[in-house]
Amino acid sequence: MASQKKEQAYKAFASHVSSGKARFYRSIGMDFIMGRRKGPFLWDMDNEKQLFNLHCNGGVFNLGHSNPQILLALTQALENLDIGNGHLMSAHRAALAQQIASLTPGDLDCTVFGVSGGEAVDLAIKVARAYTGRPGIVSASGGYHGHTGLAMAAGDPKYREFFGPQPPGFVQVTFNDIAALEGAVNSNTAAVILETVPATLGMRVPSGDYLKGVRSLCDKNGSLLILDEVQTGLGRTGKLWGFEHFGVLPDIMVLAKGLSGGLYPISATVLRRDLEKVFEPDPFIHISTFGGAELGCVVAQKVLEISSQPAFLNHVNELAKKFAQGIGQLVGRHSILEGLNQLGLFMGLKFCNDSLGPLMSLAAYQNDLLMVYANNDKSVCQLLPPLIMELEQVDWVIDRLDKALAVAASFYS
Ligand SMILES: Cc1ncc(COP(=O)(O)O)c(C=O)c1O
Repeated sequence: MASQKKEQAYKAFASHVSSGKARFYRSIGMDFIMGRRKGPFLWDMDNEKQLFNLHCNGGVFNLGHSNPQILLALTQALENLDIGNGHLMSAHRAALAQQIASLTPGDLDCTVFGVSGGEAVDLAIKVARAYTGRPGIVSASGGYHGHTGLAMAAGDPKYREFFGPQPPGFVQVTFNDIAALEGAVNSNTAAVILETVPATLGMRVPSGDYLKGVRSLCDKNGSLLILDEVQTGLGRTGKLWGFEHFGVLPDIMVLAKGLSGGLYPISATVLRRDLEKVFEPDPFIHISTFGGAELGCVVAQKVLEISSQPAFLNHVNELAKKFAQGIGQLVGRHSILEGLNQLGLFMGLKFCNDSLGPLMSLAAYQNDLLMVYANNDKSVCQLLPPLIMELEQVDWVIDRLDKALAVAASFYS
């Protein structure tokens, strides 16, 4: 029985935020309202239900909830800093951009900051168009780059057609199919934009040389390669940047989610040095009031400092190995589970049927795990544990997944 306080929150949410979401969650018995949160855990506001976070909002909580080091950096910064002023120069934006340049290969040297991933993708597309003087943007069917203007235009029709006319110049092709891309990229193409591993498409790790093939197609046609590392960046895959697994270098890299440390929203469009010259004629042609807020810069610097430590990345790889072993055993025990899509801790449980992603999300919830299916491939449940979880906790998670799989199988049959 929900407390009066929770019931009030539920009613206020239904009346003033989203009646549809409130109705939906109650109808499936998942009317969890976030209360206390710490490390890999979150609690219902009644404190009655505890969830282990295997979703992490796509990486927002890579470093856990209320990470003490990030919290300390933020609370100390609050004594002297605020949002700052995007019209003026900033020592904090400069320091963060310099740190990003030092941690990225090649000449990914200049950064424009934003608030959200969608905003950062929008800017990446604007820069590519301005630099090349071309309109065309090629992206992957089933890929996802956000719900803002140009980012949404690079995404799937189901998220945009409902909202009326869309901007021209966007083409989508099958991911991991170099021939399809060859047919779409030409002298009108400003850029190809891809998630290094598409999350909403079910963590489909591209095969062997696909991304190298994309890189050379871009080079051949004078088009730019934009890699969206909003989910794959910041250590999630066991390397600091996901693209490092594939021997390619983008012209533009987009970061968001985890850069916030879960505490202060900030995103980044990281540009090859010479692309920054598009702003030379008018450096005030793009602005974001809250983008690169100085408090956010302090947080993001701490996130990068933690995530780039070799010991931290080793830990991610150790966790990934342990998950691979544990889930391998679960594949043997549960016929509904076909396998694991995996690059480090960027993982997806692959089921034999499209209804199983949603069923498993519910079964996981009933077994105290927060896990969400991939929206553009519902046969996959995304599995994104916090990178700071302890090795010993993997066994507990696998045990809970085991139980949840049995429940999902019973729903299914
Ligand atoms: C790969 C990817 N790119 C971009 C975005 C958009 O980020 P935001 O929701 O912060 O606009 C997301 C959000 O889920 C994402 O997963």
